[in-house]
Amino acid sequence: MPSLVDLTSGGLLYGGDDNPEQWDRATWRDDVAAMQAAGVTMVTIGVFSWALLEPERDRFELTWMDEVLDLLHEGGIAVDLATPTASPPPWLALEDAETLPMDAGGHRLHHGSRTHYCPSSPTYRERARVITQVIAERWASHPAVVMWHVNNELGTHCWCPRCGAAFRDWLERRYGSLEKLNAAWGTAVWSQRYGAWEQIAPPLRAPYLLHPAHTLDYRRFVSDTLLELYRAERDVIRAVEVDKPVTTNFMGFFRGVDYRSWAGEIDVISDDSYPDPADPEAPLQAALTHDLMRSLAGGPWLLMEQATSAVNWRSHNVPKTTARMRQDALRAIAHGADGVLSFQWRASPTGPERFHSAMLPHAGTDTCLHRAVQDLGRDLRTLAEVAGSAVRAEVAILFDWSSWWAAEEPGTPSDRLRVLPQLQAWYRPLWEAGIGVDVVHPHADLSRYRLVLAPQLYLLDDDGVANLRCYITSGGCLALGPFSAVADGNARVRTGRFPVPFAELLGAGGEEWWPLPEGGAGLVPANSSGALGRGHADTWAEHLRLEAGGICELRFEGGDLDGEPALVRSADDSLHYLATMLDAALLKRWILGLAARRGVVAAHPVPEIPEGVEVAQRGEFTLLINHRQTAVDVPLTTPHLTMLDELEPTDHVHLPPGGSTVLRRALS
Ligand code: GAL
Ligand code: ZN
Repeated sequence: MPSLVDLTSGGLLYGGDDNPEQWDRATWRDDVAAMQAAGVTMVTIGVFSWALLEPERDRFELTWMDEVLDLLHEGGIAVDLATPTASPPPWLALEDAETLPMDAGGHRLHHGSRTHYCPSSPTYRERARVITQVIAERWASHPAVVMWHVNNELGTHCWCPRCGAAFRDWLERRYGSLEKLNAAWGTAVWSQRYGAWEQIAPPLRAPYLLHPAHTLDYRRFVSDTLLELYRAERDVIRAVEVDKPVTTNFMGFFRGVDYRSWAGEIDVISDDSYPDPADPEAPLQAALTHDLMRSLAGGPWLLMEQATSAVNWRSHNVPKTTARMRQDALRAIAHGADGVLSFQWRASPTGPERFHSAMLPHAGTDTCLHRAVQDLGRDLRTLAEVAGSAVRAEVAILFDWSSWWAAEEPGTPSDRLRVLPQLQAWYRPLWEAGIGVDVVHPHADLSRYRLVLAPQLYLLDDDGVANLRCYITSGGCLALGPFSAVADGNARVRTGRFPVPFAELLGAGGEEWWPLPEGGAGLVPANSSGALGRGHADTWAEHLRLEAGGICELRFEGGDLDGEPALVRSADDSLHYLATMLDAALLKRWILGLAARRGVVAAHPVPEIPEGVEVAQRGEFTLLINHRQTAVDVPLTTPHLTMLDELEPTDHVHLPPGGSTVLRRALS
């Protein structure tokens, strides 16, 4: 199967989205020259070109794109060629209004923007097939084209009657009969029993709460339907061309699509990453998202889009310093990316994205930003040998889209226990310690991990339960966070003392969820030798009881649950259950303590990471980022070369404020 490796024999990829249709021919030539000067190796073209490639139904204007491809090829720039199906032309919307999506209130949206398609519309699907076929036939063998890019950020949700019909078909395939569906969903509540398939609609806006099994299945259906769109275009391409990888760009922890179920169908896992320079949490969130992408890919992935500076779609768009741009790019590489591409090559003077940054800004090449873009191109060339190397992870964090969806439906004990913040909180101590982490599905093979963390895994189906139990009983160590393993695969709450499938192994069981009033509660070690120390519980608690075999490590102090267990483990240390949200310092002591007990070691050469310094290890290569306002000296255990400065091997690195570098172990 074609893969990213086919593209990176020359090193890391560098480039961005190029929209030549927005420019005249003279600019195309200038662009190629400027791309060469910046070290660009690959651009994505065609993403939004539909109306220019097919200005009227079945009338195609392709010669301009021939020219673009030829020019790029002559300039030695490879092309990731996109199908333009994320933005249908106006004529299609007017020809068949049912190609347009409907919102959850049943209102049809209009054209005039982008992503205005109903994924179930037969007309949209047919026209997407036709334009994909035309493109594939015309350019499959063009030497510039090295990869195919299907659609863009596939994610459009629709609640129209046609999607309703497709949903019913999907449900029929899943459940076989209406009786089974009624039983699985539990429609005996609120008179929701369905007597005929036609009675089931998408979860449209209703007077009060919707049935959580209904909304969960609709999310699954939408994800499957969007994957069908991907597959359909990929198959058209494949029928013409078999050697070049096909991708579609992901959106990180995008709630609308279960990328886990997509990953196996995608030759190159690629992601769009827009960390907010104004958000102090953004570096951590980006690192975690990169780890998710690397885990989905099972190896290197591609940073398909990022911003060189400001975006245009937040309400207040703080730009990136050039130091920050370099940090964001190097972080992605350190977490497994084999290339860094930006949206977009040349800044648009028109349209909604006229204030989005680019590699070549409105002000031109004689700018700090563009010089930094050129510098980064040079740096990535220097780092060529990083391509293909692996990130070692001995810790896994469990994450599942179905669980995320089900956990954040309304009607739970608290909407303040949120999945991504929990993931981030548990990830933080590991990230700060520069310890490699994979982000995997509860069905994944866990045998290679010394420690598995499930910060918030509300829904866990029977296969997931079996997999985790098998991991624990064959020598693994699992730490389960609050409100985990509550629901089964159909979002039905498991009855019994919780966490129901694990209570017996744990030696403790709960009986009531106990969101805490403002101020939370204290936490104290359960015995005098308690190494964890005291701390604070916030937001969430559970009423647990210790049973035979369980060991209590922390107890609540004060409040309704005074003296009750807050953190429990099994006697053999294989299973840990945290029934609250710990303050950051205590959470760090607990997680790093677990990692140490399990023999997890950081693979990097920094014995003491100074505060505010980010460290990540990929194979032989170490990334250092100084987030501080002041310079810092980072001592190393063994001599290293700073690859980007090509100095003599050194046993300590000096980083200016905002500085970032990549080291390589010096051969002795
Ligand atoms: C992405 C999209 C790009 C561009 C970018 C701006 O979501 O794929 O086409 O719009 O955002 O940040
Ligand atoms: Zn629809």
